[in-house]
Amino acid sequence: MNSIPWYPAAFISPIPKLLVASLSEQGDTVLDPFGGKGTTAIETILQNRNAIYCDLNPFAAESVEGLFAALDYVMQEKNGLENERERVISNIPQLDEVDEIIQTYGVNLEIKDWFHENTILILLAIVKLIHNDENEGNTRLLLIRKLAFSSILKFASSQQGHFTYITDNCKPVQKREKDAISLYCDKIEQIIQASQEFIVQYKLAYPKTDLKIILKNRKIVTGDAKDLSWITDGSVDLVVTSPPYLCSQDYIKTMRLMNLFFENRKAFDQDINQEIGSRAMRRRKSDVVVPKFYSDMKMVFGNISRVLKKDGFLALVIGKGKAKVISEYDIIADLIEILQSEYGLSLLFRQERRIGSRVIQVGGVDKESILIFQK
Ligand SMILES: C[S@@+](CC[C@H](N)C(=O)[O-])C[C@H]1O[C@@H](n2cnc3c(N)ncnc32)[C@H](O)[C@@H]1O
Repeated sequence: MNSIPWYPAAFISPIPKLLVASLSEQGDTVLDPFGGKGTTAIETILQNRNAIYCDLNPFAAESVEGLFAALDYVMQEKNGLENERERVISNIPQLDEVDEIIQTYGVNLEIKDWFHENTILILLAIVKLIHNDENEGNTRLLLIRKLAFSSILKFASSQQGHFTYITDNCKPVQKREKDAISLYCDKIEQIIQASQEFIVQYKLAYPKTDLKIILKNRKIVTGDAKDLSWITDGSVDLVVTSPPYLCSQDYIKTMRLMNLFFENRKAFDQDINQEIGSRAMRRRKSDVVVPKFYSDMKMVFGNISRVLKKDGFLALVIGKGKAKVISEYDIIADLIEILQSEYGLSLLFRQERRIGSRVIQVGGVDKESILIFQK
């Protein structure tokens, strides 16, 4: 499930798997306020705990709902995604219909800078299916199709470089046609297969409990981790989370291509300013960047300490980015000090972990700390 959504700088699933297993019990509530592609939420539900998820990035939260919609689809009648390839093919527009479709669905014309014209035809056929789902009120199929669509966009685009080329709006010089039908249909297949495996694993581990109940209890929210007022005081047993590594990523901008097809102005114009520790900050002065990061994180920590039960745990995974602007600061030591002295949490465990070379390029972070605190 974890490998389905395309999302940068996510947990490898063994991290939340182990933390959830060792720091909580069945039926407990586990929160991830920087939920990303939902790795913690998926592991939480797989271990029969209640999941609360929050992320500022609306496309991230929607993808996570797509994963849960897929579980629901597999458990129910499994109707609507069979013969998806034929369905896409029968909706492919003619080349001279493209501009009209773009206008009808409010797609941004900039897609022509990123995708080959033949690839655009396929992508618009999928967009049409998604809009039909919306018109028919078929939220489950809409979420699954949108999850598959958003997961393949980078690979369907003509930008072959690292994903930060997309984040930074570096358009491809040459257009390359991609087999978007196969990319999309393989992704749908992967979603269904992973959901089936998830259900088998859950049933093997918990033969007497009903997955539907734990799924129904989930809370997946697009929101700001600085304001968790929608979570009741003392209601959370465990927080497992990884905040942005200062100056390493622009998470909302990584969704640039998705935003061209399903424009969400609010996310791009307003939420970007709420993003904590974004990579864009690396151009500003360190005496602005670091205090702002600490004051944002204090608001998040205040919320976490309020919602945690007495004796509850906070597992924090955090690394230090390589941006010059933060080089003088020991960010991890400072955050530990803040949590201990201002929020009264005790540090129980600290372990450094090297990040695999494949991920090193991501903002230059090559190691991270796993910290466990208790309230
Ligand atoms: C390191 S990633 C977390 C990835 C996650 N652990 C996973 O496995 O997918 C940090 C996340 O924080 C989110 N974020 C940034 N600022 C935020 C804010 N103010 N409130 C909530 N989420 C925020 C980003 O959108 C990003 O998804």
